[in-house]
Amino acid sequence: MQEILDYQTVFVNYLQAFSKEREPKNLYGPINYILQLGGKRLRPVLTLMSAEAFNCDYEKALDAALSIEIFHNFSLVHDDIMDDAPLRRGKQTVHEKWDINTGILSGDAMLIMAYQLFENYEPSTFQSLAKLFGKTALEVCEGQQYDVDFETRDDVTVSEYLKMIEYKTAVLVGAAMKMGAIVAGASKQDQDKVYEFGRFLGIAFQLQDDYLDAFGDPKTFGKQVGGDIIENKKTYLYLKAIQFLAPSDKVLLQQLFTVNLEDNVEKIETVKQFFISSGSAEETQNKIESYTNKAFSVLETLSIPEEKKLLLKQFGNTLMTRKV
Ligand code: IPE
Ligand code: IPE
Ligand code: MG
Ligand code: MG
Ligand code: MG
Repeated sequence: MQEILDYQTVFVNYLQAFSKEREPKNLYGPINYILQLGGKRLRPVLTLMSAEAFNCDYEKALDAALSIEIFHNFSLVHDDIMDDAPLRRGKQTVHEKWDINTGILSGDAMLIMAYQLFENYEPSTFQSLAKLFGKTALEVCEGQQYDVDFETRDDVTVSEYLKMIEYKTAVLVGAAMKMGAIVAGASKQDQDKVYEFGRFLGIAFQLQDDYLDAFGDPKTFGKQVGGDIIENKKTYLYLKAIQFLAPSDKVLLQQLFTVNLEDNVEKIETVKQFFISSGSAEETQNKIESYTNKAFSVLETLSIPEEKKLLLKQFGNTLMTRKV
C-alpha cells in the first residue's frame, strides 16, 4: 500500500469484523462502543506500515495491530476514570455513559482480548510479541501512576515528566512499530531501531497531546479542553511556565495548581495566559519538533526502502500539525 489512509481503511474494516455483539451486553457493549467511536488509529497503522517496510505482507500484522489498538482503547477507558474525563472522541466516556464499575471490568476484558490476539501467531512470533507486550503494558501502568502521583506534587522536574510520558505513551508507539518488525522477521537491530523511532515519535505525540489539551479547539478536539489544568497535571507547559515566569507569577501559578475547584472557567483562562506569556507554549512547540526530528534521525539509519522512510516521515509530520 502507498497511502496512510489505505492502511487506516484496511485496519478499520478488520476491527469491524472483529467486533461482534456478545453477552453479557454490559460487558461487551462498552467495549464495542469505545472501539467503534473512531480515533486516529495511528498505532495500528504504524504496525502495518512497519511490517511492510520490512518487506512483509501487512495482512500478517493485522492481529498485532488490532492487539495494540485494543490495548490502547483499554488504557483510555481506565485513563478517563482516573482523569475524571467526561468526553472522548466527542462522545461520553464509558464510565459516564455506563458507570465506573462497568468501565473497570470492560477495560480488564479488553486487556485480555489484546493478549489473546497473539495466539494467532506461531510459537516463536507469539513469544516475542507477548514478551514485548508484557514489558510495555507494565511500563504504561508505571507511567500512569507517575502521572497521577505528580498531580499532588509541587516539585516535579522536567526529566521526571519526560520519563512519565515516555512510559505512559511513547513505549506503546515504539512497541507498535516493533511488533510490525517482529511479524516481518526483521533483524534484532532493525527491531530496536524501529522501536526507537516510535518512542521518539511517541514523546512528541504526548507533548502535542498536552499542548492541545490546553489550546485545542473545543468544537473539534473531542476531549474536554483544559482537562489537564483542572486536574493539576504537571505537563511540560506547566513546568516550563514555572521555570520562565517572574517569581510573583510563578507563585500564583503554583498556587492555582494546588486547588480543586467546582467552576474552572477562570482558572483555565488564567493558566493558559501564563502558558503563553511565559513563552512556555512556544517552547513546547519547539520541543515537539525536536523530538520529531530525533525520530527522523533514527529513521535515516534503518535499512528499509527510501519510499517507506518517506511514508513514515510524512506520518510524523502530519502528527506534528494535528489538531485532534
Ligand atoms: C490519546 O491517544 C491518549 C494519548 C496517549 C495521548 P490518541 O490521541 O491516539 O487517541 P485516539 O485513539 O486517536 O482517540
Ligand atoms: C494518556 O494520557 C495515556 C494513556 C492513556 C496511557 P492522557 O491522560 O493525557 O490522555 P488523554 O488526553 O486523556 O487522551
Ligand atoms: Mg486522560
Ligand atoms: Mg491521563
Ligand atoms: Mg492528554
